[in-house]
Amino acid sequence: MQHDKVLILDFGSQYTQLIARRVRELNIYSEIHPFNKIPTNLEEFKAVILSGSPFSVRGEQALHPDLTHIRGEKPLLAVCYGAQYLAHFSGGEVAPSNTREYGRANLAFIKEEEGFFKNIQIGSQVWMSHSDTIKTLPTNGVLIASTHDVANAAYRIEGEDTYAIQFHPEVYHSTDGKQLLENFLVSIAGLNQDWTPDSFVEETVAAIQEKVGTDKVVLGLSGGVDSTVAAVLLNKAIGKNLYCIFVNNGLLRKNEFESVLNQYEGMGLNVKGVDASKRFLDALAGIEDPELKRKAIGNSFIEVFDDEANKLTDVKWLAQGTIYPDVIESVSATGGPSATIKSHHNVGGLPDFMKLKIVEPLRAIFKDEVRRVGATLGIDPELLGRHPFPGPGLGIRILGDITAEKVRILQEVDAIFINGLKEWGLYDKVWQAGAMLLPVNSVGVMGDERTYEKCVALRAVESTDGMTADWVNLPYEFLQKTSNDIINKVKGVNRVVYDISSKPPATIEWE
Ligand code: XMP
Repeated sequence: MQHDKVLILDFGSQYTQLIARRVRELNIYSEIHPFNKIPTNLEEFKAVILSGSPFSVRGEQALHPDLTHIRGEKPLLAVCYGAQYLAHFSGGEVAPSNTREYGRANLAFIKEEEGFFKNIQIGSQVWMSHSDTIKTLPTNGVLIASTHDVANAAYRIEGEDTYAIQFHPEVYHSTDGKQLLENFLVSIAGLNQDWTPDSFVEETVAAIQEKVGTDKVVLGLSGGVDSTVAAVLLNKAIGKNLYCIFVNNGLLRKNEFESVLNQYEGMGLNVKGVDASKRFLDALAGIEDPELKRKAIGNSFIEVFDDEANKLTDVKWLAQGTIYPDVIESVSATGGPSATIKSHHNVGGLPDFMKLKIVEPLRAIFKDEVRRVGATLGIDPELLGRHPFPGPGLGIRILGDITAEKVRILQEVDAIFINGLKEWGLYDKVWQAGAMLLPVNSVGVMGDERTYEKCVALRAVESTDGMTADWVNLPYEFLQKTSNDIINKVKGVNRVVYDISSKPPATIEWE
Protein backbone atom coordinates (compact mmCIF):
# COMPACT_ATOMS: atom_id res chain seq x y z
CA MET A 1 0.00 0.00 0.00
CA GLN A 2 1.54 3.26 -1.13
CA HIS A 3 -0.29 5.74 1.09
CA ASP A 4 1.32 8.22 3.42
CA LYS A 5 0.92 6.81 6.90
CA VAL A 6 0.64 8.18 10.42
CA LEU A 7 1.86 6.21 13.43
CA ILE A 8 -0.16 6.65 16.63
CA LEU A 9 1.68 5.46 19.71
CA ASP A 10 -0.81 4.34 22.33
CA PHE A 11 -0.27 4.98 26.02
CA GLY A 12 -3.61 3.43 26.94
CA SER A 13 -5.92 6.45 26.61
CA GLN A 14 -9.61 5.75 26.15
CA TYR A 15 -9.46 8.19 23.20
CA THR A 16 -6.64 6.59 21.19
CA GLN A 17 -9.01 4.95 18.70
CA LEU A 18 -10.67 8.29 18.18
CA ILE A 19 -7.36 9.84 17.11
CA ALA A 20 -7.01 7.18 14.44
CA ARG A 21 -10.59 7.70 13.28
CA ARG A 22 -10.24 11.47 13.03
CA VAL A 23 -7.05 11.04 11.01
CA ARG A 24 -8.82 8.58 8.70
CA GLU A 25 -11.69 11.06 8.32
CA LEU A 26 -9.09 13.38 6.82
CA ASN A 27 -8.45 10.63 4.25
CA ILE A 28 -5.06 9.88 5.76
CA TYR A 29 -4.13 6.32 6.70
CA SER A 30 -3.20 5.80 10.36
CA GLU A 31 -2.16 2.85 12.49
CA ILE A 32 -2.19 2.42 16.27
CA HIS A 33 0.70 0.60 17.94
CA PRO A 34 1.47 0.19 21.66
CA PHE A 35 4.07 2.76 22.81
CA ASN A 36 6.54 -0.03 23.62
CA LYS A 37 6.20 -1.90 20.32
CA ILE A 38 7.43 0.60 17.76
CA PRO A 39 6.90 -1.00 14.33
CA THR A 40 10.01 -2.18 12.55
CA ASN A 41 8.93 -0.43 9.34
CA LEU A 42 9.13 2.96 11.05
CA GLU A 43 10.52 4.54 7.90
CA GLU A 44 7.11 4.06 6.23
CA PHE A 45 5.42 6.48 8.63
CA LYS A 46 5.61 10.16 7.74
CA ALA A 47 4.36 11.53 11.07
CA VAL A 48 3.85 10.31 14.63
CA ILE A 49 1.20 11.14 17.24
CA LEU A 50 1.59 10.33 20.94
CA SER A 51 -1.73 9.56 22.66
CA GLY A 52 -2.98 10.43 26.13
CA SER A 53 -2.78 7.98 29.03
CA PRO A 54 -4.41 7.14 32.35
CA PHE A 55 -0.93 7.31 33.94
CA SER A 56 0.99 10.29 35.30
CA VAL A 57 4.47 11.11 34.01
CA ARG A 58 5.41 11.73 37.65
CA GLY A 59 4.34 8.28 38.84
CA GLU A 60 6.43 5.15 39.14
CA GLN A 61 4.33 3.57 36.43
CA ALA A 62 5.08 6.34 33.91
CA LEU A 63 5.36 4.83 30.44
CA HIS A 64 8.60 5.56 28.59
CA PRO A 65 8.47 5.36 24.81
CA ASP A 66 11.65 5.01 22.84
CA LEU A 67 11.58 8.13 20.66
CA THR A 68 14.93 7.49 18.97
CA HIS A 69 14.42 7.87 15.19
CA ILE A 70 11.20 9.76 15.86
CA ARG A 71 11.79 12.96 17.78
CA GLY A 72 13.50 15.57 15.65
CA GLU A 73 13.46 13.21 12.67
CA LYS A 74 9.74 13.09 11.91
CA PRO A 75 6.89 15.53 12.53
CA LEU A 76 5.62 14.67 16.01
CA LEU A 77 2.37 15.66 17.71
CA ALA A 78 2.15 14.93 21.42
CA VAL A 79 -1.33 14.91 22.96
CA CYS A 80 -2.02 15.23 26.72
CA TYR A 81 0.22 12.57 28.37
CA GLY A 82 2.48 12.87 25.31
CA ALA A 83 2.78 16.62 25.86
CA GLN A 84 3.52 16.11 29.55
CA TYR A 85 6.01 13.37 28.78
CA LEU A 86 8.00 15.62 26.45
CA ALA A 87 7.97 18.42 29.05
CA HIS A 88 8.83 16.28 32.09
CA PHE A 89 11.73 14.38 30.55
CA SER A 90 13.23 17.19 28.48
CA GLY A 91 13.95 19.92 31.00
CA GLY A 92 10.43 21.14 31.84
CA GLU A 93 8.26 20.62 34.91
CA VAL A 94 4.96 18.79 35.37
CA ALA A 95 2.99 19.06 38.62
CA PRO A 96 -0.50 18.27 39.92
CA SER A 97 -2.86 21.04 38.85
CA ASN A 98 -4.59 23.26 41.38
CA THR A 99 -7.72 23.89 39.36
CA ARG A 100 -9.89 21.25 37.73
CA GLU A 101 -8.80 20.67 34.16
CA TYR A 102 -11.59 18.48 32.88
CA GLY A 103 -14.07 19.22 30.13
CA ARG A 104 -14.73 22.41 28.23
CA ALA A 105 -12.16 25.21 27.90
CA ASN A 106 -11.57 27.94 25.34
CA LEU A 107 -8.38 29.11 23.69
CA ALA A 108 -7.55 32.54 25.10
CA PHE A 109 -4.19 33.07 23.43
CA ILE A 110 -2.83 31.82 20.13
CA LYS A 111 0.58 32.53 18.69
CA GLU A 112 1.51 31.69 15.09
CA GLU A 113 -1.99 31.73 13.65
CA GLU A 114 -0.75 30.71 10.23
CA GLY A 115 0.87 27.33 10.95
CA PHE A 116 -0.41 24.95 13.57
CA PHE A 117 -3.44 27.10 14.37
CA LYS A 118 -4.42 28.03 10.81
CA ASN A 119 -8.20 28.74 10.59
CA ILE A 120 -8.58 28.41 14.36
CA GLN A 121 -9.59 31.49 16.30
CA ILE A 122 -9.29 32.66 19.89
CA GLY A 123 -12.35 31.39 21.76
CA SER A 124 -12.28 28.00 19.99
CA GLN A 125 -13.54 25.28 22.36
CA VAL A 126 -11.09 22.54 23.35
CA TRP A 127 -11.62 19.51 25.59
CA MET A 128 -9.35 18.94 28.57
CA SER A 129 -9.00 15.76 30.62
CA HIS A 130 -5.97 15.72 32.88
CA SER A 131 -4.98 16.12 36.51
CA ASP A 132 -1.33 17.10 35.98
CA THR A 133 -0.34 20.37 34.42
CA ILE A 134 2.78 21.58 32.60
CA LYS A 135 4.36 24.23 34.85
CA THR A 136 7.49 24.86 32.80
CA LEU A 137 8.07 24.14 29.14
CA PRO A 138 10.89 21.80 28.11
CA THR A 139 14.21 23.06 26.77
CA ASN A 140 13.65 24.96 23.52
CA GLY A 141 9.88 24.93 24.10
CA VAL A 142 7.92 27.86 22.62
CA LEU A 143 4.46 28.59 23.98
CA ILE A 144 1.88 28.72 21.19
CA ALA A 145 -1.51 28.64 22.96
CA SER A 146 -3.17 29.05 26.37
CA THR A 147 -6.65 28.77 27.81
CA HIS A 148 -7.88 30.82 30.77
CA ASP A 149 -6.91 28.11 33.24
CA VAL A 150 -4.09 26.33 31.45
CA ALA A 151 -1.18 28.59 30.60
CA ASN A 152 0.88 25.99 28.74
CA ALA A 153 -1.94 24.52 26.65
CA ALA A 154 0.19 24.10 23.51
CA TYR A 155 3.87 24.45 22.68
CA ARG A 156 6.31 23.57 19.98
CA ILE A 157 10.01 22.75 20.12
CA GLU A 158 12.30 25.19 18.38
CA GLY A 159 14.30 23.55 15.59
CA GLU A 160 12.04 20.45 15.38
CA ASP A 161 8.65 19.67 13.83
CA THR A 162 7.48 18.74 17.31
CA TYR A 163 4.14 20.07 18.62
CA ALA A 164 2.51 19.35 21.94
CA ILE A 165 -1.01 20.04 23.15
CA GLN A 166 -2.57 19.53 26.53
CA PHE A 167 -6.14 19.19 25.17
CA HIS A 168 -7.66 16.40 23.07
CA PRO A 169 -8.17 17.35 19.40
CA GLU A 170 -9.71 13.92 18.70
CA VAL A 171 -12.94 14.34 20.71
CA TYR A 172 -15.94 15.97 19.07
CA HIS A 173 -16.14 18.58 21.82
CA SER A 174 -12.85 20.10 20.62
CA THR A 175 -14.65 21.97 17.89
CA ASP A 176 -11.60 22.68 15.73
CA GLY A 177 -9.80 19.44 16.59
CA LYS A 178 -10.04 18.04 13.09
CA GLN A 179 -8.75 21.30 11.63
CA LEU A 180 -5.83 21.17 14.02
CA LEU A 181 -4.98 17.61 13.00
CA GLU A 182 -5.23 18.66 9.36
CA ASN A 183 -2.92 21.63 9.97
CA PHE A 184 -0.36 19.35 11.58
CA LEU A 185 -0.61 16.44 9.16
CA VAL A 186 -1.11 18.25 5.88
CA SER A 187 0.40 21.74 6.23
CA ILE A 188 3.26 20.86 8.56
CA ALA A 189 4.00 17.19 7.92
CA GLY A 190 3.03 17.31 4.22
CA LEU A 191 0.99 14.09 4.09
CA ASN A 192 -1.27 13.33 1.12
CA GLN A 193 -4.99 12.90 1.75
CA ASP A 194 -5.31 9.89 -0.50
CA TRP A 195 -6.90 7.26 1.75
CA THR A 196 -10.43 7.03 0.29
CA PRO A 197 -13.06 4.27 0.09
CA ASP A 198 -12.43 4.03 -3.67
CA SER A 199 -8.71 3.57 -3.20
CA PHE A 200 -9.37 1.06 -0.42
CA VAL A 201 -11.64 -1.03 -2.66
CA GLU A 202 -9.22 -0.97 -5.57
CA GLU A 203 -6.20 -1.93 -3.45
CA THR A 204 -8.02 -4.52 -1.37
CA VAL A 205 -9.42 -6.27 -4.41
CA ALA A 206 -5.92 -6.44 -5.92
CA ALA A 207 -4.44 -7.64 -2.62
CA ILE A 208 -7.08 -10.40 -2.27
CA GLN A 209 -6.46 -11.55 -5.83
CA GLU A 210 -2.76 -11.74 -5.19
CA LYS A 211 -3.10 -13.51 -1.84
CA VAL A 212 -5.81 -16.01 -2.70
CA GLY A 213 -5.18 -16.55 -6.42
CA THR A 214 -7.54 -19.21 -7.78
CA ASP A 215 -8.13 -20.86 -4.37
CA LYS A 216 -11.61 -21.28 -2.97
CA VAL A 217 -12.67 -19.19 0.02
CA VAL A 218 -15.50 -19.83 2.48
CA LEU A 219 -17.20 -17.08 4.48
CA GLY A 220 -19.97 -17.06 7.09
CA LEU A 221 -22.53 -14.33 6.42
CA SER A 222 -24.46 -13.01 9.41
CA GLY A 223 -26.73 -10.40 7.85
CA GLY A 224 -24.64 -7.70 9.53
CA VAL A 225 -22.70 -4.90 7.89
CA ASP A 226 -19.17 -6.26 8.33
CA SER A 227 -19.63 -9.74 6.90
CA THR A 228 -21.74 -8.35 4.05
CA VAL A 229 -19.15 -5.77 3.01
CA ALA A 230 -16.38 -8.39 3.33
CA ALA A 231 -18.37 -10.73 1.08
CA VAL A 232 -19.04 -8.11 -1.58
CA LEU A 233 -15.36 -7.15 -1.66
CA LEU A 234 -14.28 -10.78 -1.98
CA ASN A 235 -16.93 -11.38 -4.61
CA LYS A 236 -15.53 -8.48 -6.61
CA ALA A 237 -12.06 -9.98 -6.30
CA ILE A 238 -12.66 -13.70 -6.87
CA GLY A 239 -16.32 -14.12 -7.93
CA LYS A 240 -17.64 -17.65 -7.76
CA ASN A 241 -14.62 -18.92 -5.85
CA LEU A 242 -16.19 -17.29 -2.83
CA TYR A 243 -18.61 -19.63 -1.06
CA CYS A 244 -20.84 -17.87 1.44
CA ILE A 245 -22.77 -19.73 4.12
CA PHE A 246 -25.66 -18.02 5.88
CA VAL A 247 -26.86 -20.01 8.89
CA ASN A 248 -30.30 -19.61 10.40
CA ASN A 249 -29.73 -20.26 14.09
CA GLY A 250 -33.43 -19.84 14.80
CA LEU A 251 -32.66 -16.76 16.86
CA LEU A 252 -32.79 -14.16 14.11
CA ARG A 253 -35.41 -11.42 13.81
CA LYS A 254 -38.79 -12.24 12.28
CA ASN A 255 -38.47 -13.23 8.58
CA GLU A 256 -34.83 -12.13 8.66
CA PHE A 257 -33.41 -15.35 7.28
CA GLU A 258 -35.57 -15.39 4.15
CA SER A 259 -35.38 -11.68 3.41
CA VAL A 260 -31.64 -11.30 3.93
CA LEU A 261 -30.94 -14.46 1.96
CA ASN A 262 -32.96 -12.99 -0.92
CA GLN A 263 -30.99 -9.79 -0.70
CA TYR A 264 -27.70 -11.66 -0.80
CA GLU A 265 -28.79 -13.61 -3.84
CA GLY A 266 -29.90 -10.36 -5.48
CA MET A 267 -26.41 -9.00 -4.93
CA GLY A 268 -24.96 -11.84 -6.99
CA LEU A 269 -23.27 -13.59 -4.07
CA ASN A 270 -22.61 -17.31 -4.24
CA VAL A 271 -24.54 -18.02 -1.04
CA LYS A 272 -26.06 -21.07 0.59
CA GLY A 273 -28.71 -20.62 3.26
CA VAL A 274 -28.69 -23.34 5.93
CA ASP A 275 -31.67 -23.57 8.24
CA ALA A 276 -30.27 -25.11 11.43
CA SER A 277 -32.85 -23.64 13.82
CA LYS A 278 -33.78 -26.98 15.32
CA ARG A 279 -30.18 -27.93 15.98
CA PHE A 280 -29.58 -24.70 17.88
CA LEU A 281 -32.82 -24.92 19.86
CA ASP A 282 -32.04 -28.52 20.80
CA ALA A 283 -28.57 -27.52 21.97
CA LEU A 284 -30.06 -24.70 24.05
CA ALA A 285 -32.82 -26.71 25.71
CA GLY A 286 -32.95 -26.08 29.45
CA ILE A 287 -29.90 -23.74 29.56
CA GLU A 288 -30.48 -20.57 31.58
CA ASP A 289 -27.01 -19.15 32.19
CA PRO A 290 -26.13 -16.42 29.63
CA GLU A 291 -22.52 -17.50 29.19
CA LEU A 292 -23.52 -21.16 28.75
CA LYS A 293 -26.06 -20.08 26.16
CA ARG A 294 -23.36 -18.17 24.29
CA LYS A 295 -21.17 -21.27 24.39
CA ALA A 296 -23.96 -23.53 23.15
CA ILE A 297 -24.77 -21.14 20.32
CA GLY A 298 -21.09 -20.64 19.44
CA ASN A 299 -20.38 -24.38 19.42
CA SER A 300 -23.46 -25.18 17.36
CA PHE A 301 -22.44 -22.54 14.85
CA ILE A 302 -19.00 -24.07 14.51
CA GLU A 303 -20.49 -27.54 14.01
CA VAL A 304 -22.97 -26.37 11.37
CA PHE A 305 -20.43 -24.23 9.59
CA ASP A 306 -17.87 -27.00 9.66
CA ASP A 307 -20.36 -29.54 8.25
CA GLU A 308 -21.18 -27.18 5.40
CA ALA A 309 -17.59 -26.18 4.70
CA ASN A 310 -16.63 -29.88 4.55
CA LYS A 311 -19.18 -30.41 1.79
CA LEU A 312 -17.15 -28.05 -0.37
CA THR A 313 -14.01 -29.48 -1.88
CA ASP A 314 -10.61 -27.82 -1.95
CA VAL A 315 -11.44 -24.80 0.15
CA LYS A 316 -8.20 -23.27 1.39
CA TRP A 317 -9.27 -19.99 2.98
CA LEU A 318 -11.68 -18.79 5.61
CA ALA A 319 -12.74 -15.15 5.21
CA GLN A 320 -13.82 -13.14 8.24
CA GLY A 321 -15.36 -9.72 8.75
CA THR A 322 -12.88 -8.71 11.47
CA ILE A 323 -12.56 -4.92 11.69
CA TYR A 324 -9.82 -2.67 13.09
CA PRO A 325 -11.24 -2.16 16.62
CA ASP A 326 -11.24 -5.97 17.09
CA VAL A 327 -7.57 -5.99 16.16
CA ILE A 328 -6.60 -3.07 18.40
CA GLU A 329 -8.58 -4.37 21.34
CA SER A 330 -6.69 -7.64 21.25
CA VAL A 331 -3.37 -5.76 21.82
CA SER A 332 -3.40 -3.81 25.05
CA ALA A 333 -1.04 -0.85 25.48
CA THR A 334 -0.06 -1.75 29.00
CA GLY A 335 -0.28 -5.52 28.65
CA GLY A 336 -2.80 -5.86 31.49
CA PRO A 337 -5.72 -8.21 31.02
CA SER A 338 -9.04 -6.39 31.19
CA ALA A 339 -11.99 -8.09 32.89
CA THR A 340 -14.28 -10.23 30.74
CA ILE A 341 -17.73 -8.70 31.08
CA LYS A 342 -19.28 -10.82 28.37
CA SER A 343 -17.44 -13.47 26.43
CA HIS A 344 -18.08 -11.87 23.02
CA HIS A 345 -15.52 -9.19 23.90
CA ASN A 346 -12.80 -11.76 23.31
CA VAL A 347 -12.14 -12.27 19.63
CA GLY A 348 -12.87 -15.98 19.16
CA GLY A 349 -12.56 -17.33 15.65
CA LEU A 350 -13.03 -20.85 14.43
CA PRO A 351 -11.22 -23.90 15.76
CA ASP A 352 -7.81 -25.00 14.56
CA PHE A 353 -9.06 -28.26 13.16
CA MET A 354 -10.53 -26.41 10.21
CA LYS A 355 -6.94 -25.79 9.10
CA LEU A 356 -7.88 -22.96 6.80
CA LYS A 357 -5.79 -19.90 6.12
CA ILE A 358 -7.45 -16.66 7.13
CA VAL A 359 -8.30 -13.68 4.93
CA GLU A 360 -9.69 -10.55 6.61
CA PRO A 361 -10.23 -7.77 4.07
CA LEU A 362 -11.61 -5.26 6.62
CA ARG A 363 -8.88 -5.72 9.23
CA ALA A 364 -7.52 -2.22 8.73
CA ILE A 365 -10.72 -0.18 8.84
CA PHE A 366 -13.22 1.21 11.35
CA LYS A 367 -16.99 0.64 11.31
CA ASP A 368 -17.75 4.05 9.77
CA GLU A 369 -15.21 3.30 7.05
CA VAL A 370 -16.81 -0.12 6.48
CA ARG A 371 -20.08 1.70 5.79
CA ARG A 372 -18.37 4.14 3.41
CA VAL A 373 -16.70 1.25 1.60
CA GLY A 374 -20.05 -0.55 1.45
CA ALA A 375 -21.64 2.53 -0.13
CA THR A 376 -18.84 2.71 -2.70
CA LEU A 377 -19.53 -0.94 -3.53
CA GLY A 378 -23.18 -0.08 -4.17
CA ILE A 379 -24.64 -2.01 -1.22
CA ASP A 380 -28.22 -1.03 -0.33
CA PRO A 381 -28.11 1.89 2.19
CA GLU A 382 -30.81 0.18 4.22
CA LEU A 383 -28.59 -2.86 4.70
CA LEU A 384 -25.61 -0.64 5.58
CA GLY A 385 -27.65 1.37 8.08
CA ARG A 386 -28.89 -1.65 10.03
CA HIS A 387 -28.53 -1.58 13.78
CA PRO A 388 -25.92 -3.89 15.31
CA PHE A 389 -27.37 -7.25 16.28
CA PRO A 390 -25.57 -9.67 18.60
CA GLY A 391 -24.23 -12.95 17.23
CA PRO A 392 -26.29 -15.06 19.69
CA GLY A 393 -29.33 -13.08 18.52
CA LEU A 394 -32.59 -13.36 20.42
CA GLY A 395 -30.92 -16.11 22.49
CA ILE A 396 -29.55 -13.45 24.86
CA ARG A 397 -32.76 -11.40 24.76
CA ILE A 398 -34.87 -14.23 26.09
CA LEU A 399 -33.94 -14.21 29.74
CA GLY A 400 -33.75 -17.68 31.19
CA ASP A 401 -34.25 -20.81 29.12
CA ILE A 402 -35.19 -20.70 25.45
CA THR A 403 -38.10 -22.44 23.74
CA ALA A 404 -39.55 -22.20 20.24
CA GLU A 405 -42.66 -20.53 21.65
CA LYS A 406 -40.63 -17.84 23.44
CA VAL A 407 -38.70 -17.16 20.25
CA ARG A 408 -41.97 -16.74 18.37
CA ILE A 409 -43.31 -14.28 20.94
CA LEU A 410 -40.14 -12.22 20.99
CA GLN A 411 -39.89 -12.13 17.19
CA GLU A 412 -43.41 -10.70 17.00
CA VAL A 413 -42.75 -8.09 19.69
CA ASP A 414 -39.40 -7.10 18.18
CA ALA A 415 -40.93 -6.74 14.70
CA ILE A 416 -43.65 -4.40 15.96
CA PHE A 417 -41.07 -2.28 17.78
CA ILE A 418 -38.52 -2.11 14.93
CA ASN A 419 -41.11 -1.54 12.19
CA GLY A 420 -42.65 1.17 14.37
CA LEU A 421 -39.29 2.91 14.71
CA LYS A 422 -38.96 2.84 10.92
CA GLU A 423 -42.50 4.12 10.32
CA TRP A 424 -42.05 6.97 12.77
CA GLY A 425 -38.70 7.99 11.23
CA LEU A 426 -36.88 7.08 14.45
CA TYR A 427 -34.83 4.09 13.32
CA ASP A 428 -31.81 6.06 12.09
CA LYS A 429 -31.78 8.21 15.23
CA VAL A 430 -31.25 5.12 17.36
CA TRP A 431 -27.95 3.24 17.46
CA GLN A 432 -29.45 -0.08 18.54
CA ALA A 433 -32.91 -1.25 19.56
CA GLY A 434 -34.62 -4.47 20.47
CA ALA A 435 -36.95 -6.22 22.86
CA MET A 436 -36.24 -8.53 25.78
CA LEU A 437 -38.55 -11.29 26.95
CA LEU A 438 -38.49 -11.30 30.74
CA PRO A 439 -38.68 -14.49 32.80
CA VAL A 440 -41.68 -13.28 34.77
CA ASN A 441 -45.42 -13.50 34.33
CA SER A 442 -47.56 -10.65 35.54
CA VAL A 443 -51.24 -10.26 36.20
CA GLY A 444 -53.38 -8.34 33.75
CA VAL A 445 -56.98 -8.00 32.72
CA MET A 446 -58.23 -8.39 29.17
CA GLY A 447 -61.98 -8.05 28.62
CA ASP A 448 -63.39 -9.45 31.82
CA GLU A 449 -60.70 -12.04 32.12
CA ARG A 450 -57.76 -12.14 34.45
CA THR A 451 -54.53 -12.88 32.57
CA TYR A 452 -51.20 -14.10 33.82
CA GLU A 453 -48.78 -13.60 30.97
CA LYS A 454 -45.36 -12.49 29.80
CA CYS A 455 -43.76 -9.11 30.29
CA VAL A 456 -41.44 -7.61 27.64
CA ALA A 457 -38.93 -4.78 27.94
CA LEU A 458 -38.10 -2.48 25.05
CA ARG A 459 -34.60 -1.01 24.81
CA ALA A 460 -33.32 1.71 22.46
CA VAL A 461 -29.90 3.28 22.95
CA GLU A 462 -27.70 5.91 21.42
CA SER A 463 -24.00 5.20 21.26
CA THR A 464 -21.02 5.49 18.93
CA ASP A 465 -19.31 2.18 19.56
CA GLY A 466 -21.39 0.19 22.05
CA MET A 467 -18.79 0.77 24.78
CA THR A 468 -20.91 3.43 26.46
CA ALA A 469 -24.56 4.07 25.70
CA ASP A 470 -27.56 6.02 26.88
CA TRP A 471 -31.26 5.23 26.55
CA VAL A 472 -33.13 7.18 23.91
CA ASN A 473 -35.86 9.60 24.84
CA LEU A 474 -38.46 8.12 22.47
CA PRO A 475 -41.71 10.13 22.12
CA TYR A 476 -44.42 9.07 24.59
CA GLU A 477 -46.93 8.82 21.73
CA PHE A 478 -44.67 6.33 19.99
CA LEU A 479 -44.21 4.24 23.14
CA GLN A 480 -47.93 4.35 23.79
CA LYS A 481 -48.82 3.15 20.29
CA THR A 482 -46.10 0.46 20.34
CA SER A 483 -47.19 -0.84 23.72
CA ASN A 484 -50.83 -1.03 22.60
CA ASP A 485 -49.90 -2.81 19.39
CA ILE A 486 -47.76 -5.35 21.21
CA ILE A 487 -50.32 -6.17 23.86
CA ASN A 488 -53.18 -6.33 21.37
CA LYS A 489 -51.39 -8.32 18.71
CA VAL A 490 -48.94 -10.64 20.44
CA LYS A 491 -50.63 -13.49 22.17
CA GLY A 492 -48.95 -14.28 25.48
CA VAL A 493 -47.84 -10.74 26.39
CA ASN A 494 -49.82 -8.48 28.73
CA ARG A 495 -47.23 -5.93 29.87
CA VAL A 496 -44.59 -3.71 28.19
CA VAL A 497 -41.89 -1.70 29.97
CA TYR A 498 -39.23 0.67 28.59
CA ASP A 499 -35.63 0.34 29.80
CA ILE A 500 -34.17 3.68 30.99
CA SER A 501 -30.71 2.52 32.09
CA SER A 502 -27.46 3.86 30.73
CA LYS A 503 -24.29 1.86 30.05
CA PRO A 504 -22.43 1.86 32.36
CA PRO A 505 -23.65 0.63 34.77
CA ALA A 506 -26.18 -1.45 32.80
CA THR A 507 -25.07 -3.18 29.60
CA ILE A 508 -27.00 -2.86 26.34
CA GLU A 509 -28.16 -6.47 26.29
CA TRP A 510 -29.81 -7.80 29.42
CA GLU A 511 -27.71 -10.94 29.38
P1 XMP B 1 -23.29 -5.08 25.88
O1 XMP B 1 -24.49 -5.90 26.21
O2 XMP B 1 -21.98 -5.71 26.27
O3 XMP B 1 -23.26 -4.99 24.30
O4 XMP B 1 -23.39 -3.67 26.38
C1 XMP B 1 -22.42 -4.18 23.54
C2 XMP B 1 -22.67 -4.52 22.08
O5 XMP B 1 -22.27 -5.87 21.84
C3 XMP B 1 -23.39 -6.64 21.40
N1 XMP B 1 -23.29 -7.97 22.04
C4 XMP B 1 -22.84 -9.07 21.42
N2 XMP B 1 -22.43 -9.25 20.15
N3 XMP B 1 -22.03 -11.54 20.63
C5 XMP B 1 -22.04 -10.50 19.75
O6 XMP B 1 -21.68 -10.69 18.59
C6 XMP B 1 -22.43 -11.43 21.92
O7 XMP B 1 -22.42 -12.39 22.68
C7 XMP B 1 -22.86 -10.12 22.33
N4 XMP B 1 -23.31 -9.61 23.51
C8 XMP B 1 -23.57 -8.31 23.31
C9 XMP B 1 -24.62 -5.87 21.82
O8 XMP B 1 -25.72 -6.19 20.99
C10 XMP B 1 -24.13 -4.44 21.68
O9 XMP B 1 -24.19 -4.02 20.33
